[in-house]
Amino acid sequence: MPKEQSGLSLDGQGKPLWLSLELTYRCPLKCSWCNNPLDFEDYGSRELSTDEWKAVLRDARDLGALQLGFTGGEPLLRDDLEELVGYADSIGFYTNLITSGIGLTEERLLALKAAGLRHVQLSLQATQPHLTDALVGARAHALKLEAARLVKKHGFPMVLNVPVFRQNIGEIDAMVEWAAELGIEYIEFANIQYYNWALMNRDELMPSLEQVREAEAVVNRWREKLGKSMTIYFVIPDYYEGRPKACMNGWGAIHLTLAPDGVAMPCQEARVIPGLEFLSVRDKPLAWLWHESPLFRKYRGLDWLPEPCGSCSEKEKDFGGCRCQALLLTGDASNTDPACSHSPHHHLVTEAVAVTTRAMRFHKPLIKRSAGAVSTAFMEH
Ligand code: FES
Repeated sequence: MPKEQSGLSLDGQGKPLWLSLELTYRCPLKCSWCNNPLDFEDYGSRELSTDEWKAVLRDARDLGALQLGFTGGEPLLRDDLEELVGYADSIGFYTNLITSGIGLTEERLLALKAAGLRHVQLSLQATQPHLTDALVGARAHALKLEAARLVKKHGFPMVLNVPVFRQNIGEIDAMVEWAAELGIEYIEFANIQYYNWALMNRDELMPSLEQVREAEAVVNRWREKLGKSMTIYFVIPDYYEGRPKACMNGWGAIHLTLAPDGVAMPCQEARVIPGLEFLSVRDKPLAWLWHESPLFRKYRGLDWLPEPCGSCSEKEKDFGGCRCQALLLTGDASNTDPACSHSPHHHLVTEAVAVTTRAMRFHKPLIKRSAGAVSTAFMEH
């Protein structure tokens, strides 16, 4: 999740500057760290139509949205992606495609460029073909590399996004070398966040602190060597930070996410929180959902913060952390994020780290994102 520390909207009158459209949860890959819901397969028949997405785009522009990410699942699985990009561009959005690269042929890329696509964020997990393919559960490596080459060939600004976990943290050195050869200017090593599929696989995925420090040293060596020719981001797992992340720059501050069924949310994971009503643009106008809905108002601003956050000098920087993580770890989304060392629940994080460190000696298979995988996993345990 983003970690910027500006743009806090305390009153809900702010603008949803960052619009994220999850066009579909369908995806050809089976990543064990996927942040889509565990019941992703139930959304296929409820996806918004082309015209409904266009109405969302119009309404979001009216609210002041500027930056737009088409994401998923795999957004390339929508046949109307070019049409939606073209429409978004025509009404003033800066458009970004967030993709696995699977399905990004040269023909498709040129059509997207002609439609007005400005930026591509492409994910890659490893430089070794067998490792990428094993991690994503499909023969994807060669397709991803070809997609990266095409994106560079056609002059798009591009971020290479590398989700980092125990199985690929040793790949960072080779990954930067490969990216430098291809002329990639931005690479983000994002230690994954533990929600949904990643949370189910946390004991197997989380790297040790030693691995994280080693990876950080590798990144720093490359930063020195490459200077300004490449910007390398390295996002440390919040389980090891002692400080919570400023998740989404605060709840309902500047981020607006639309799920495939048109449900408007302050973040991609919000549906894990029980007791809140998740309404779609099919139910209510987007402006009402953003400004007025109980969902967006629930944790907006700082007044609702519990102690110790309420009297903390850091509260305007981290807003008490992540609501979804607080819910998933403590059972109550109103609690201080346990990633914070001041949280009375911080032991949940340190215990999880201890468990995962022990688990490094045994190797359980990762649970792959696929229909029915959750119930099978529960039956097996
Ligand atoms: Fe952080 Fe939902 S993922 S608030």
